[in-house]
Amino acid sequence: MIKAKYPVNRFSDIPTPFYYYDLDVLRTSLAEIKRQIEGQPFVVHYALKANVNPEVLKTIKEAGLGADCVSGGEVQAALDAGIVPAKVVFAGVGKADWEINLGLDNDIFCFNVESIPELEVIDELARAKGKTAKVALRINPNVSANTHHYITTGLNENKFGINLTELDKVTQIVKGLQNVKLIGIHFHIGSQITDMSPFQDLCVRINELQDHFEANDIALKNINVGGGLGVNYEHPNHFPIPEYEAYFKIFREHLSLRPGQTLHFELGRSIVAQCGSLISRVLYVKEGTSKKFVILDAGFTDLIRPALYQAYHRVENLSSDLKEEAYDVVGPICESSDVFVKDYRMNQTKRGDIIALRSAGAYGEIMASQYNLRKLPKAYTSDELK
Ligand code: LLP
Repeated sequence: MIKAKYPVNRFSDIPTPFYYYDLDVLRTSLAEIKRQIEGQPFVVHYALKANVNPEVLKTIKEAGLGADCVSGGEVQAALDAGIVPAKVVFAGVGKADWEINLGLDNDIFCFNVESIPELEVIDELARAKGKTAKVALRINPNVSANTHHYITTGLNENKFGINLTELDKVTQIVKGLQNVKLIGIHFHIGSQITDMSPFQDLCVRINELQDHFEANDIALKNINVGGGLGVNYEHPNHFPIPEYEAYFKIFREHLSLRPGQTLHFELGRSIVAQCGSLISRVLYVKEGTSKKFVILDAGFTDLIRPALYQAYHRVENLSSDLKEEAYDVVGPICESSDVFVKDYRMNQTKRGDIIALRSAGAYGEIMASQYNLRKLPKAYTSDELK
C-alpha cells in the first residue's frame, strides 16, 4: 500500500485526533488553478464552507483567490483573512438581516440571491443605508449532477435558487427595485462531481439563459457557475491534484461568454480536500465473531462524511508495514453509524498505531461537533511540523 509521506515521528508527540494539512499539496493545487485560468476572464472564489483553518485560508488568500461565503460568519472570516470585499460573494437560501447588513456595510462584490422575498429584503436594507446592493440571481438550472442526493442542489426539487418558471417575474421585479443592481446570474449544481458532463449541460443551459436576458435588454456582466468539482477519494496519493485542466476546458469550450463578461467559480472541495488528513490513534483492536474491529480515537464527531453521506475516505496505518488484514474501522461514539469503513484491507494493526484518514481537508474539521462532549479536533500544518 502506497502511503502519504507524512512526518510520523513528529506526530507521535501530539495528542490525537487532529487534522494535518500538507500546505505544499494545497499550494500545488492553487498553482494549477492559476495556470489553468491564466489569460482568461475567469475569477475563482474559494468556498469557505469547505475549510476555514486560518493557515489554509491564509495560503488561499496569498494565491489571490476571492471568497464564496454562505453566512455572516464566513463573510467576516474572509474579511479577517484579508480577502478584499471586492472579491467576496455571498450566497445562501436564508440570509438573516444582520448578515445582509454585514455584506452591505463592507460593500461586498455580490449577493447571490435565491428568492423574490430575499431580493425585496436586500433592497429595503440597502435603501435604509442609502446604498445599492449588487446582486446576482441564483437560478436553479434543473441540471442533474449525478452525485449523492444530499449534495445535489440544481434540480427543481431542491430548495436552492430561483426556478426557471419564475425567471420572467423576477427579472421584472428586479427592474423595479431602486436599491439593487443586477450584475449577474449564479448557479451551483452540486458537489463531488467527477464526470464533466453535468458541467457541460450547465453551459448549454446558461447559453440559453443568456439569450433570454439579452432578449429582455438585460446586460449581465458576470456569470457564476458555482463549485462542485470532485476529487479522487480512492487514490489520493496518485491523484492529489484535481482535474482542473478538463474542468476549466469545459467552460472555455462550451460556455459562450459575451464580450466583457467575467466567469466566476466557487470551488471548495477540489482546493482543500487532498491536503488534509485526520490523524488518529488505534485505541483497541477487537475480535468480533466474524470480524475484527479497529477502534480509533477519532469518530464521526471529527469527520462526519462517512456517517452522513456514506462517503469513503482512504485509511492508512502509518505505523505498520505488516501484511494486510480485513478490518472494520470504527470510532468511539455511541452510535452504530460511527463507522469509517467496513471490510477494509489494511496493514496488520495494533493498539497505539497512527492512522491517517485521507482526503479530509474539505468538509472535515469544519463539520466537527462536540457530541458526546468530545473535544473539537486541533489542526497542524506541514509548515509547523517540518
Ligand atoms: N457554491 C455553492 C453555492 C455551494 O452550495 C457549494 C457547496 C459550493 C459553491 C462549493 O462546492 P464544492 O466545490 O466544495 O463542491 N458537506 C458536503 C458538501 C456540501 C457542499 C455544499 N455546497 C460533503 O462533505 O460532501
